[in-house]
Amino acid sequence: MAGALVRGMLGNQVAAPAQIWATNRSSDERLGGLRDRYGITVTRSKSDLAAASSILVLAVKPKDMAGVLRELAPLVRADHLVISVAAGIPLRSIESALSGVPVIRAMPNTSAAVQESATALAAGMRADAVHLAAAETIFRAVGDVMAVDEDLLDVVTGLSGSGPAYVYRLIEAMIHAGTDLGLDALLARRLAVQTLIGAARMLETSSEDPGALRERVTSPGGTTMAALRALEDGGFAMAIREAIGRAADRAREMADEFAGGEPAKRLAAER
Ligand SMILES: NC(=O)c1ccc[n+]([C@@H]2O[C@H](COP(=O)([O-])OP(=O)(O)OC[C@H]3O[C@@H](n4cnc5c(N)ncnc54)[C@H](OP(=O)(O)O)[C@@H]3O)[C@@H](O)[C@H]2O)c1
Repeated sequence: MAGALVRGMLGNQVAAPAQIWATNRSSDERLGGLRDRYGITVTRSKSDLAAASSILVLAVKPKDMAGVLRELAPLVRADHLVISVAAGIPLRSIESALSGVPVIRAMPNTSAAVQESATALAAGMRADAVHLAAAETIFRAVGDVMAVDEDLLDVVTGLSGSGPAYVYRLIEAMIHAGTDLGLDALLARRLAVQTLIGAARMLETSSEDPGALRERVTSPGGTTMAALRALEDGGFAMAIREAIGRAADRAREMADEFAGGEPAKRLAAER
């Protein structure tokens, strides 16, 4: 995710290479790769990085967040903005670990790699409109950005954060069906992917809702109607509702684990 943000910001001239610093935990190869590819500054010193930066983007796995917050706590200033992309780590946990610092949570998705992320932002109690605008500028470089209240971020995680995987699963199923029924696999993939791109572009450019677009391509007694009946008989809409609900539940559980679990207890004990 960090690499996608760097690529998007540089590609869209949101920042110059000299303005971007990066660090990681252990992989010199990965860090060196970012430096060589993008001309940014890489360092092993979080202290140097924090001193040189005004915005700190925490793009670590949720399980690593407690360690990162512990390392950053003595280094952050009130004039920093901290942006976390970690799924399920609540603003209150980050704010209490980095006291006095404005924090924003972002939920992008993997399509940031091709600058087509759907990103939702939730501002913490110390983040103002200027901070939100700065975060929007960063994530606009990798796609579309929307601001939401934090209590909606779990549903956002279920819908768009994990959403690319549902679309990949749909395309995978379409390709399997096509090959099962006699199409060459590459041809089936090309047809399925272009169908997805075309439908997405129709949705993007049309003011009609998806249901109206669907009805317009569904002639009574035709092929599409036969297909849609089979989908609904198979519980399609119910399965999607269940999938997004379960992902949102898991995001909530992760927040509870972090807030009440070992990482939070360790942080509290150290304060
Ligand atoms: N990928 C997505 O589509 C997506 C979508 C939405 C949200 N997110 C969120 O984005 C976050 C990052 O995901 P990712 O897929 O980019 O993970 P990733 O490729 O595993 O990158 C995580 C990075 O965190 C670094 N790190 C871990 N502990 C550290 C520490 N103590 N100090 C400094 N760096 C540390 C790791 O360094 P080393 O490599 O050296 O260990 C690694 O470079 C996750 O929280 C995820 O929930 C991802």
